Amino acid sequence: ELGDHPDHMAKEIGEQPEVVAALLDRVRRRTADGSTWVGLGLPPFDRLAVVACGTSLHAGQVIAGTLRTLGGVPTDIVVASEVDHVVLAPGTLVVAISQSGETADVLRALDRLDERHPVLALTNNVHSSLARRADAVLDCHAGPEVGVAATKTFTAQVLVGVTAVVSALVASGRLEASRAAALVDELAELPERMATAAAVAADRVPLLATTVRDAPGFLFLGRGPGLPYAAEGALKLEVLSYRWAEAYPAGELKHGPLALVDEGTPVVVVDHGDPRLQWAVAEVRARGGFVVTVGGEGTDLPALPRRTDAADLAWGRSTAPWGPIEAVVPLQMLARELALQLGCDVDKPRNLAKWVTVE
Ligand code: F6R
Repeated sequence: ELGDHPDHMAKEIGEQPEVVAALLDRVRRRTADGSTWVGLGLPPFDRLAVVACGTSLHAGQVIAGTLRTLGGVPTDIVVASEVDHVVLAPGTLVVAISQSGETADVLRALDRLDERHPVLALTNNVHSSLARRADAVLDCHAGPEVGVAATKTFTAQVLVGVTAVVSALVASGRLEASRAAALVDELAELPERMATAAAVAADRVPLLATTVRDAPGFLFLGRGPGLPYAAEGALKLEVLSYRWAEAYPAGELKHGPLALVDEGTPVVVVDHGDPRLQWAVAEVRARGGFVVTVGGEGTDLPALPRRTDAADLAWGRSTAPWGPIEAVVPLQMLARELALQLGCDVDKPRNLAKWVTVE
């Protein structure tokens, strides 16, 4: 089943361009005219609350951010295990995200939320408890994921979620169909960009990993739409390499984590083109920290297309409302390579399970 791949994680990272291409074939036309959303049969909503854990929560942050940016719709992010004191406003749609669909924290969270809130499930397992419990289901179509650390299911959740959000905004008249079509067209380039990012990372990541191999801890920084990817990069690195990693909004650096930065401290910056990130990079370098930038041309691990002034204007910044999706590929590859160099099992990290069916 592994074919030429050294491990399931390598295989699943490598499958992301085809997973995205196949998903886009499914959703493209129906997204831009709003019919994907209409087909779900959900009532209109004023707000959206994401309920999820771990990597799925990061995908939810991207999806919620897209809805806020494009539609000005308020969103809540609910860590499933922390649902007890959450109060959702009337008119809130709950989007429960789980690749397995069997995560106990997510299922319990739905039990505890007011049942008047409709639930949309985003899952890679349409026969799961979550899918049965939800009012509507979106299949992530990522194919089987064997590696315990989620990789291609993250990307599939993001894709399915952001296209659903675009469709919902068109259906509710909050977004023009022509703008939606332009957005979805831009996504068509994603498979190729992910493949290119993977090829460049394959070349550069081994040496980078060797350079940081003995570091006890890592910082990951991002800003705005780049932040969920920084969080995902940090989580993946911790899960696989057993090294501490923390993600922060870059602006928070000066409010605390800068104290951690010393000679050689690795700091991974998801650079989606916000010039304010350069401040963080300069502060880290001034203290001898080892900066690894992931982003556009000229970064250490380029994943984004060349930035043009036109694109900058279109977004007010340099990326789409869902941020630098392709940056997840080099981040996953860095985590995997570091883990391998440290002798860890990248498919079965210690202490963790693929299906977390206990609360
Ligand atoms: C980390 C990882 C986990 C899962 C989390 C939720 O690499 O994979 O954080 O994302 O346990 O799992 P699902 O999506 O099945 O609810």
